[in-house]
Amino acid sequence: MSSFWSWFIIIIVLGNVIGYSIFLYVLRKNPQKKGSAEPKTTGHVFDGIEELNNPLPRWWLWLFWITIVFTIIYLALYPGLGNFKGILNWTSDQRYQQEATAAEQHYGELYADYYQQSVAALAENPEALKTGQRLFVHNCASCHGVDGRGGKGFPNLTDSNWQWGNAPEEIETTILNGRRGMMPAFIAAIGGEEGADQVVAYVRSLNGHAVDAELAALGKTKFTAICSACHGADAKGNKLLGAPNLTNNQWVHGGSEEAIKNILRNGLQGVMPAHKDLLGEEKVRLLAAYVYHLSQSEGSQPMNE
Ligand code: HEC
Ligand code: HEC
Repeated sequence: MSSFWSWFIIIIVLGNVIGYSIFLYVLRKNPQKKGSAEPKTTGHVFDGIEELNNPLPRWWLWLFWITIVFTIIYLALYPGLGNFKGILNWTSDQRYQQEATAAEQHYGELYADYYQQSVAALAENPEALKTGQRLFVHNCASCHGVDGRGGKGFPNLTDSNWQWGNAPEEIETTILNGRRGMMPAFIAAIGGEEGADQVVAYVRSLNGHAVDAELAALGKTKFTAICSACHGADAKGNKLLGAPNLTNNQWVHGGSEEAIKNILRNGLQGVMPAHKDLLGEEKVRLLAAYVYHLSQSEGSQPMNE
């Protein structure tokens, strides 16, 4: 803070303290003589009710004096008056630094220890999983949910639907480097809204929905010509491209006719941010173990090749 602003603050704060003190000193006297018959009024009248000019009660006045004394003691001990640091020399930075260094030391050793082990081994270690869960809640829950079940546009990490694979190394790579799903809008290539209806019918038929067979047959031709390039001829996906399996009735973006049509109209660009620089490889290892554990916990199967 420049010394101008420092003095600016000091003058305002001290000015207030002194001003209020004078104000209270003046108010301490009862403006009304004891025993006078007529109470003084301010002259204000509302609906026939007069506003009296009585002094504040003593105890109330004392409360104000106490806050002023507190202010003075506080400002002497702690930072508050411009650049003056206070007699105790307390700073929030210092306090934070002390705590951060202590935590860094404690957890640093712990993380380094865990980093010696594989993702799969850590996924069997309840203590490591607890730490992994904490890291997950702080760093991942905003997108994937506290329980990892995701939401529309954010993959559920507890089901058997994996775009990029759920082998331990695949999960670790996803978290370290991030992933970028790219599906262009295909509505024009498949013949506009009409073509989209056909392709949607075919995709829905793969997921056990009753659909118009003729429509689905037309859709299948288009799927084979265009979609299979990424999603595979059997529509079971390709984890090298992050193209999801379209036959397991588990959807990141919703499986309704309208939801799928919207994807054909607008395409998709899902981004999973890279966490290597953000968290470091040691923490990512623990996160990978936690996510791997999540993916195993409900009988999730590795994705088809
Ligand atoms: C260039 C490769 C590519 C092609 C071609 C492609 N897709 Fe995709 N598709 C993807 C990728 C990658 C994703 C995941 C996008 C993301 O995560 O943001 C995806 C996602 C989807 C989804 C969302 C699945 C979910 O879980 O919500 C649907 C539905 C879909 N594609 C259908 C199709 C259909 C139908 C076609 C053919 C018209 C098609 N895709 C063609 C790459 C492709
Ligand atoms: C800003 C939102 C966001 C945050 C934060 C985030 N993710 Fe993601 N994550 C996504 C999106 C979106 C995708 C889907 C990417 C795609 O479309 O291919 C994804 C994909 C994934 C996948 C791949 C899922 C699959 O089906 O293959 C994993 C694993 C994952 N995230 C784990 C994590 C972990 C662990 C963290 C915390 C360190 C995290 N994510 C933080 C948005 C996020």
